[in-house]
Amino acid sequence: MKKLISMLAVMFALAVVVRAEDDLAAKGKKLVDESKPKCSMCHQIDGKGGKLSKPMEQLAANHPDDYLKGALLDPKKTIKPDTKMPAYKYTDEEAAAVIAYIKSLKK
Ligand code: HEC
Repeated sequence: MKKLISMLAVMFALAVVVRAEDDLAAKGKKLVDESKPKCSMCHQIDGKGGKLSKPMEQLAANHPDDYLKGALLDPKKTIKPDTKMPAYKYTDEEAAAVIAYIKSLKK
């Protein structure tokens, strides 16, 4: 019985973690959908949008979170001085949400 209870506790804890990640990605999707200028002007999402840069699904590939955060908040410093990627004024929490969303798209 004890074993069963601890197994249930572990499953519950896992479900909470997965939910929290889903929530963060959902918040990030909203930020991306409402971004100005829109990310999809330059990064295609689901094959729709501009092609100035890579599709959204490829943005998180091979990049650690702190690079992605820098790319959002201070692209000229993080990517390159003459990049066309605009700087976004996200809070730490918003940046983390956008990053969670981009990573959830990764194929
Ligand atoms: C005006 C065009 C434009 C818009 C709008 C834009 N980006 Fe970018 N983004 C770029 C360019 C150009 C790069 C540089 C990488 C490249 O050359 O492909 C870049 C790079 C990035 C990178 C780093 C990827 C890498 O491999 O270096 C991330 C992450 C990113 N963009 C996310 C976003 C998100 C999220 C939004 C919306 C909130 C957004 N971008 C809006 C043009 C844009």
